[in-house]
Amino acid sequence: MNHSKQPAWLDNAVFYEIYPQSFYDTNADGIGDFQGIIDKLDYIADLGCNAIWLNPCFASPFGDAGYDVSDYYTAAPRYGTNADLKRLFDAVHKRDMHLLLDLVPGHTSVEHKWFQESMKAEKNEYTDRYVWTDSVWEEPQGMGCLRGISARDGSCAINFFSNQPALNYGFYNPRRPWQQSMDDEGPKATLAELKNIMRFWLQMGCDGFRVDMAGSLVKHDEDGKGTIKLWQNIRDFLDKEFPDAAMVSEWGEPDKSLAGGFHMDFLLHFGSSHYNALFRCNKPYFSKTGEGSAREFIAKYKENLQKTNGRGLMCIPSGNHDMDRLSRKLDTDEMKIAFAFLLSMPGAPFIYYGDEIGMRYVENLTSVEGGYNRTGSRSPMQWDKSVNAGFSDAPAEKLYIPLDSAADRPDAASQLADESSLRSEVRRLISLRLQNKALQSHAEIAFVQEGYPLVYTRKCDTQQITVILNPAAKEAVVENVSGKLLYTVGGEVTLKNGKCVIGGCSAGFVEN
Ligand code: GLC
Ligand code: CA
Repeated sequence: MNHSKQPAWLDNAVFYEIYPQSFYDTNADGIGDFQGIIDKLDYIADLGCNAIWLNPCFASPFGDAGYDVSDYYTAAPRYGTNADLKRLFDAVHKRDMHLLLDLVPGHTSVEHKWFQESMKAEKNEYTDRYVWTDSVWEEPQGMGCLRGISARDGSCAINFFSNQPALNYGFYNPRRPWQQSMDDEGPKATLAELKNIMRFWLQMGCDGFRVDMAGSLVKHDEDGKGTIKLWQNIRDFLDKEFPDAAMVSEWGEPDKSLAGGFHMDFLLHFGSSHYNALFRCNKPYFSKTGEGSAREFIAKYKENLQKTNGRGLMCIPSGNHDMDRLSRKLDTDEMKIAFAFLLSMPGAPFIYYGDEIGMRYVENLTSVEGGYNRTGSRSPMQWDKSVNAGFSDAPAEKLYIPLDSAADRPDAASQLADESSLRSEVRRLISLRLQNKALQSHAEIAFVQEGYPLVYTRKCDTQQITVILNPAAKEAVVENVSGKLLYTVGGEVTLKNGKCVIGGCSAGFVEN
């Protein structure tokens, strides 16, 4: 049961994910900032993206790059003030774009004042804000925990890293005396506070949220039932107060997330979507070798389509701050075909900053702010060929994360000036999507042919388009396609007498 209405702007939304610390630094402290994003909005708009997902930008000790919030109501000073963030919202809206903040509902930083209070032995307002056992000798089952760190006698469950204690939304089926139910006072207060946080930023002008670990809230949940119920409660609140707010979940199970009232769900690099088989394994489907397989991915995708009543509202990101850069396994020509896929699938596409120019995964970096192996995908944006790739005027050793040091590192300025660059291709593909409703978020998808080439049709009330993707180096023939060839990528694609001959590493879009 999904009673959510879709905000109309999601129909043709194309997102750009910004990792604020690495995007653009305007005050030479080596770290990106809100003003830097404002300064680069025209670059994003020129690419064709009309929406932004901004990674967490709230006060934090940055033990997990900001996913460890210490104050949900205050922007991290290193990026600017709340007023600067409001200026960013306004600048975004002035360009008819929208912006999602990153909401982290599952856990806080250990430094959050709620947690500091919660650790106290005396009962107070925050005693039940987190998931605590009632004795330090008992650990919460199935979760890591913090123990022996407070006067309070108990172990506190963690949600991710050890510095991220789990907020208390209750247990689906409480079994131990310390396990609270979703209807107990503590969990109810946590939920009320979460709504306050959302209300605060939505009133200031953000357009919705990407929700971190959205499926993790109710503990020992049964098939997501408790957590779905919790999000439905939030859905009612949003329908009443902010019907245009968009909600995109990091959940990886679209049937559950859409039932919870989310508009779209991410396919994740972990879990069972087989998303990595396309871009990030030893033999990715989008490699020219033609030895990969999209079969399991498609099977899973179809299963999800069915479970969500044909609503393919699954976002397939080009990458994100948690996974390897697309370019680690694919070359430029291969990435062009991968983007032809990403930008012609249902659900809103998400482009991770720098993927549009094929930024590389920077190898062998020491972990920065809890990045570990993810650090290499979080290096500063390469804007041009000037000092620090145009990212910052700070001395190189002060940069948040070292830059890709390769002499031939890609940069945005060079690719803007080159029609054959990856960025130019991505720009044309976005424009193709925006001009053709059948390629947008809500149009249906039907898979026609798997293997090489991959063929699918996209269809809305007014239009049908067949997408033919041939990542393999070998030319291929597809029978039974007719219509008008709208656009091609890569090599030669011809359409004659119902037959499409498609060159190696090429893509064709046919309007039927
Ligand atoms: C999500 C974020 C990731 C973070 C984790 C804990 O998976 O994308 O970066 O470390 O949640 O909040
Ligand atoms: Ca800065």
